[in-house]
Amino acid sequence: MRLLRCGDGSGRDVNAVRSSAASLATLAQEAKSCTRCPLYRNATQTVFGEGPADAKLMVVGEQPGDQEDIAGRPFVGPAGRVLDRALAEAGIDRTQVYVTNAVKHFKNEPRGKRRLHRKPTRSEVEVCKVWLLQEVAVVRPALVLAMGVTAAEALAGRPMTISRERGRALVFPDGQRGMVTVHPSSILRVPDEAARHQAYAGLVKDLKVALKTLQAV
Ligand code: URA
Repeated sequence: MRLLRCGDGSGRDVNAVRSSAASLATLAQEAKSCTRCPLYRNATQTVFGEGPADAKLMVVGEQPGDQEDIAGRPFVGPAGRVLDRALAEAGIDRTQVYVTNAVKHFKNEPRGKRRLHRKPTRSEVEVCKVWLLQEVAVVRPALVLAMGVTAAEALAGRPMTISRERGRALVFPDGQRGMVTVHPSSILRVPDEAARHQAYAGLVKDLKVALKTLQAV
């Protein structure tokens, strides 16, 4: 595992990092009562990003799932386990990464005892971007890795085809250096085992490219 914090001597001083951590805590507190779109109505709570305020790498998913909604933390369910394994295999320590989502509430449709995952609309993503862009502005990571099309389009501000754009250096409209890859849940949905392994290997490969990019910054 390699150190992926600006505190490794290449970045901000300790007071700047403390001030960023305080800003993130304030943002997380404000986001708790967010009612900018209707998604808060069916969700247990806002799931804000988490991780070091001086992380060099930020990873962004779509929205919290059922388990994240209950735990109040991003990527702690099945997709999170795929992500954790892939990060570890790529040589990246998750505790050094800022992990968040494009949308901070779990969009779902209650069906009896179950809650069915629903994709956020473009306008819900747009409205929620106010939180994501502030997270990026505070953490100022060397690289933002968008996982899946919702995060990629939110950050790039344009239609994205993951298969075409994955694994290469991009610059988002706010000047942020970025990269896109598949969403970990897409791997879980691949029915064929060999194809699933291949999809997983693709995620690990992209994470390794992200790490190499960070090491070159
Ligand atoms: N999927 C996401 O996009 N984010 C999470 O936090 C969990 C699952």
